[in-house]
Amino acid sequence: MLNKAKIAVLVSGGGTNLQALIDAQKSGIIKSGEIKLVVSNKSDAYALTRAEKSGIKTAVILKKECASKEEFENKIIEKLTKAEIDVIVLAGFMCILSEKFTYRYPKRIINVHPSLIPSFCGEGFYGLKVHEAALAYGVKVTGATVHYVNEIADGGEIIMQKAVEVEEGDTPEILQRRVMENAEWIILPEATEKVCAQVINNPS
Ligand code: GAR
Repeated sequence: MLNKAKIAVLVSGGGTNLQALIDAQKSGIIKSGEIKLVVSNKSDAYALTRAEKSGIKTAVILKKECASKEEFENKIIEKLTKAEIDVIVLAGFMCILSEKFTYRYPKRIINVHPSLIPSFCGEGFYGLKVHEAALAYGVKVTGATVHYVNEIADGGEIIMQKAVEVEEGDTPEILQRRVMENAEWIILPEATEKVCAQVINNPS
């Protein structure tokens, strides 16, 4: 049995979900895993600063410095392998991973998405765009989903979901913040703990 699953968090932006994971590790909500590495595809992602402040190793891999998507992913895999990563958490990572990548880590990659899948998900639905689409449709309830990552964008098995009400006068920014606070920052750490516990109890 592994002591703790080694976690890598892949990010592209502000990293509030990364912060929720770091805080959950400190408070003991995440006890079966430890964040060992943060990988960003943006050199100016504030998530990198959050990681550094918490003493977590970081790596930046830029698509424009790679000849192909395959090379980009191979560089990420190299970092993950070197750090002996068991569980990969996509926390605002704005790249779609190929089948070759996801097949390598079956039930070991999870993603947080800011809607109740299967609504407002798949290619083109990311970040604020998801909330713009939810408001344009006029839904009264939205939320967040944590799911396993496979070759289909936002198509892997659902692990956890949490609903959040849409309120009169919401802007995409206001709704995004409410979904983060009331759903994402709660279910992402809980789902991460769940997956890490499974991995250490059944490491095959
Ligand atoms: C979060 O709302 C996350 O759910 C979303 O981007 C935001 C990143 O914020 N991810 C997607 O839309 C992926 N399809 P953060 O960098 O502050 O965690």
